[in-house]
Amino acid sequence: MDAKIVLLPGDGIGPEIVAQGKRVLEAVAAKFGHSFSMSEHPIGGNAIDSFGDPLPQPTIDACKASDAILLGAVGGPKWDDPTAKTRPEVGLLKIRQELGLFANLRPIETWDELVDASPLRREIVAGTDILFFRELTGGIYFGDSGRRPHPSGEQAYNEMVYSTGEIERIVRLAAEAARGRRGHLTSVDKANVLEVSRLWRQVAQRVMTEEFPDVKYDVVLIDSMAMHLIARPKDFDVVVTGNMFGDILTDEASMLPGSLGLLPSASLGSDGPGLYEPIHGSAPDIAGMNIANPLATFLAVAMLLRHSLKLNDEADAVSAAVAKALKDGHRTKDIAAKGPSISTTEMGDVVVNNLTA
Ligand code: IPM
Ligand code: MG
Repeated sequence: MDAKIVLLPGDGIGPEIVAQGKRVLEAVAAKFGHSFSMSEHPIGGNAIDSFGDPLPQPTIDACKASDAILLGAVGGPKWDDPTAKTRPEVGLLKIRQELGLFANLRPIETWDELVDASPLRREIVAGTDILFFRELTGGIYFGDSGRRPHPSGEQAYNEMVYSTGEIERIVRLAAEAARGRRGHLTSVDKANVLEVSRLWRQVAQRVMTEEFPDVKYDVVLIDSMAMHLIARPKDFDVVVTGNMFGDILTDEASMLPGSLGLLPSASLGSDGPGLYEPIHGSAPDIAGMNIANPLATFLAVAMLLRHSLKLNDEADAVSAAVAKALKDGHRTKDIAAKGPSISTTEMGDVVVNNLTA
């Protein structure tokens, strides 16, 4: 297969981990006889520094012309001034919107070898396997916003909006995924307070009854979900929710496996390229030190191979190479507890060797 893959290294540890992700893609291409042409483009803070724009047009064009995109991370304290004209995060929101990436898949799997690093007890978290579907191009992130005068100074507002069609398409995708897993979908909303959640609940219920009678379906309020997620995480299979609730819940869920360093995510639209990234962010405090954990990026590469390129054997091979690295006791600093650790590039060596062996 010939595929065009765009690399968006971004800020902080982004460039280090994407460089390792690129090695893994090259190893896959060599082993399975594919040709991946890869090109790097700026996004985020570095793009603001060089072009005054967190998402320059050539980056958008390259992404649109690609088969898949691998992103590192964006942002850092350098660009955190609240009065700045633009922010690195704007680049991320804009690429999601430009490419219509409405479905953000965030799998939360626990690795038995690392469970003891979780802040929660082993008996609560071991065996947790949740797939979140976070709606990514609507809701409060993309509603009308602004400031207006107010007797006390100013008033700021963000509107939370969802339409029938936006709810239907994300619920459908999530329900289809549930069908291929343990057949259970949980929708999370705040229907006791928000009108937008009442529409969400109504539409989701209809889609489930009409199209997915075989999938077990329940609804949970967001505040209650925050609690259940740490009290009984094993009870969830696929979870679908809106943009901001999903943002918050997935950060909470990321603590279950014990390390952020192993969690990938995929952002998909109805057609066109998908965007794949580790969920850990740019970690500016350890940038350039060659100690970041590249495993989440490798698992993002596996998702890229599976979802955008439909290369399931190749995806399985990458996941297996990561699993073997953990099983053989290789640890970057973040998951080493008090034991010995290896560097970002050494972890890259281990996984590339596992793949080519
Ligand atoms: C995420 C991040 C982003 C979001 C930020 C960086 C804009 O937190 O991908 O979860 O809120 O969507
Ligand atoms: Mg987030």
